[in-house]
Amino acid sequence: MVTTTLDTLVAFTKRRGFVYPTSEIYGGLANSYDYGPYGVQLLKNIKDLWWKKMIEEREDMVGLDSQILQHPTTWVASGHVGSFNEAMVEDKKTNKRYRADHLIEAWAKKHDPTLVVENLTFQEWTDYIKKNDIKSPDGNEITEPKPFNQLFETAIGVVSGEKSKVYLRGETAQGIFANFKQITDSCRVKLPFGVGQMGKSFRNEITQGQFVFRTLEFEQAEIEYFFDPEKTDWKKLMDEWKASMWSFISGDLGIDAAKLRWRQHTDKERSHYSKDTYDLDYEYPFGWKELWGIAYRTDYDLSQHMKHSGKTLEYVDSATGRKFIPHVMEPAVGVNRMFLMVLADAYHEEDLGEGKTRTVLKLKPSLAPVQVAIFPLQKDETLRTQAREIYGTLKKHFRVEFDDAGNIGKMYRRQDEIGTPYCVTIDYKSLESGMVTVRERDTMKQETVLIKDLNHYFEQKFTI
Ligand code: GAP
Repeated sequence: MVTTTLDTLVAFTKRRGFVYPTSEIYGGLANSYDYGPYGVQLLKNIKDLWWKKMIEEREDMVGLDSQILQHPTTWVASGHVGSFNEAMVEDKKTNKRYRADHLIEAWAKKHDPTLVVENLTFQEWTDYIKKNDIKSPDGNEITEPKPFNQLFETAIGVVSGEKSKVYLRGETAQGIFANFKQITDSCRVKLPFGVGQMGKSFRNEITQGQFVFRTLEFEQAEIEYFFDPEKTDWKKLMDEWKASMWSFISGDLGIDAAKLRWRQHTDKERSHYSKDTYDLDYEYPFGWKELWGIAYRTDYDLSQHMKHSGKTLEYVDSATGRKFIPHVMEPAVGVNRMFLMVLADAYHEEDLGEGKTRTVLKLKPSLAPVQVAIFPLQKDETLRTQAREIYGTLKKHFRVEFDDAGNIGKMYRRQDEIGTPYCVTIDYKSLESGMVTVRERDTMKQETVLIKDLNHYFEQKFTI
């Protein structure tokens, strides 16, 4: 089997309306991508499924939508202003900036393959670069690593001079902590319970060339699961969440489990707020990388917000009257990383023999941007009218596309490429028999179905 390269995916997603480079007409913007008509639908389908499985189907979860701009003290309390840093180096000639750990990783891959970059401290990175005379990708000398804060700053205030500094949120999580008391006061929630939130986060990323895997602006789907540490064993809770995460990726999204693995963070790598962290890694076209993280954040965040706001965020156990600060388990995933994984996993170039190939996205049918395509086979007005009628009826229930531009082979290929699981063809015989042909994407097998049964037929095909 041919392994799909990132370049193949970048070109394919642009050609077929999934992902475009942002501001391309102005020469592009680093680490930024827009989602085209098919991309935005696939992204939405992934998000809807996450929301359904993680929030709606669970008794112990509620949702939230907090703001991107929050009181600036939020980010002082969370530790982002002080320590949301990456170690950055600069090419002394071109002034291009790189993450020190990424340059070390690339160098070590060739010269020191047993090195685990995450095991080194900031000072050890500095020493390692010096000792091994590591250069920039352009072969030039680089500066010593220095901390680079990833938070984006902006200002509010209409009158010049009265502007006040605010930050674009670096994670959706803090909005959940800041609303913890409002949620417990206004909703009938009892520990253990979780709050899920999905939305944009922003980070000033300097590493380039990882497509939608690492962007300045991205979407997170985060859960803060609050619990009483005296009643809930955090290790057991972590295992339960790990099982849910794995089952969502391999079951609900249908991803090949051979490309998934757990990796525990080393002590040096773990964030300041976490007692234990695991990453669920996926084998992307550029190697094993973090898809979804789970961290035991203890009572760090609520305690910090209590300290900085002066407000109590304690929870009162209604049975015993005991007051305490709940602890938190946090499964946090990047929606765009799930999107890239889904595409990489689904993309296939199949050899059909006789020098013919077809590109096919083997997406789970419920995730496909277009679920059914309708083709009238002959250029005939009566046939076209009937096909449009079927299209109109099915469109009320499914994502349907109508196509009569080209020969049948080309129309099938176009739909295979965007992952459409079913194509319906209507021909002269359909007018008499009331039957159409349904062709399945992966097997390319065809069967005839009564037009009046089509709705029911597809309803059964698209159950999750
Ligand atoms: N609240 C915890 C937190 O933000 P994180 O590991 O920094 O933890 C969570 O981010 C997830 O967000 C990551 O697992 C990844 O999927 C996604 N993510 C982080 N930075 C990203 C970026 N620059 N571009 C796209 N996704 C990103």
